[in-house]
Amino acid sequence: MLQAELSALKAAGKQVGLVPTMGALHAGHVSLVERSVAENDVTVVSIFVNPTQFNDKNDLIKYPRTLEADCSLLEKAGATIAFAPSVEEIYPEPDTRTFSYAPLDTVMEGAFRPGHFNGVCQIVSKLFDMVKPHRAYFGEKDFQQLAVIREMVHQMEFPLEVVGCPIVREADGLAMSSRNTRLSSEERTTALNISRTLFESLEYAKKHTLGETKSYVEQGIAAVDGLRLEYYEVVDARTMQPVNAWDEAEGIVGCITVFCGDVRLIDNIRYK
Ligand code: PAF
Repeated sequence: MLQAELSALKAAGKQVGLVPTMGALHAGHVSLVERSVAENDVTVVSIFVNPTQFNDKNDLIKYPRTLEADCSLLEKAGATIAFAPSVEEIYPEPDTRTFSYAPLDTVMEGAFRPGHFNGVCQIVSKLFDMVKPHRAYFGEKDFQQLAVIREMVHQMEFPLEVVGCPIVREADGLAMSSRNTRLSSEERTTALNISRTLFESLEYAKKHTLGETKSYVEQGIAAVDGLRLEYYEVVDARTMQPVNAWDEAEGIVGCITVFCGDVRLIDNIRYK
């Protein structure tokens, strides 16, 4: 049904953009949709909480699901098609394919969430096969995910362009995330220290070594009651491998994962 509709649109020369999401949409997702709407004739937004990318079953169960609100947000943002398949539709049988893009996918999220990127590649490659978009849109908040997807597209020769879009933040700096809805108001205030520390480290980095800057962030987070740092890595923006000096790579990004209560939050900051 979806494929037939899209084939007809493509046969009529329409350009198709795809925005893969797991729903619980917020302004960050809306920015991806608006970018796709601006660059394509047709924008497909998938809403699917993909079980194969959750290594923590509790996280999967607790993941917010707000389909009705998502659909009205998408209509306002100008999306053409909202595609919200069931698990059975996507995985009529278990997906046993394995994807490995080492060392891109073995560090950071890859190390702390075993199997996560394999699941992401399973669902994203399926969506690419189903929709066959000209362009696909992903947020830079999931910085490593974007790099892994770019590599998958390159190696599997998907004929499409991957478009990375900037992080969207709340007015006070907190990176938008579907998981933010799980924070109590007290936790929400505590979580603000994540982006604050990252932004402060940008200034700090101007007069300090990379190692000192990394420690500044680690200690800054450790000093906040209610936050537990999982990792802070300062990496080459292309390879995702840790770097030790500011002149070691052309692009350098600090990637952080912090637990606030039992909510796992990620964020990142570009130093150069
Ligand atoms: O970034 C996400 O929301 C998910 O990982 C994605 C890309 C929609 C795949 O399920």
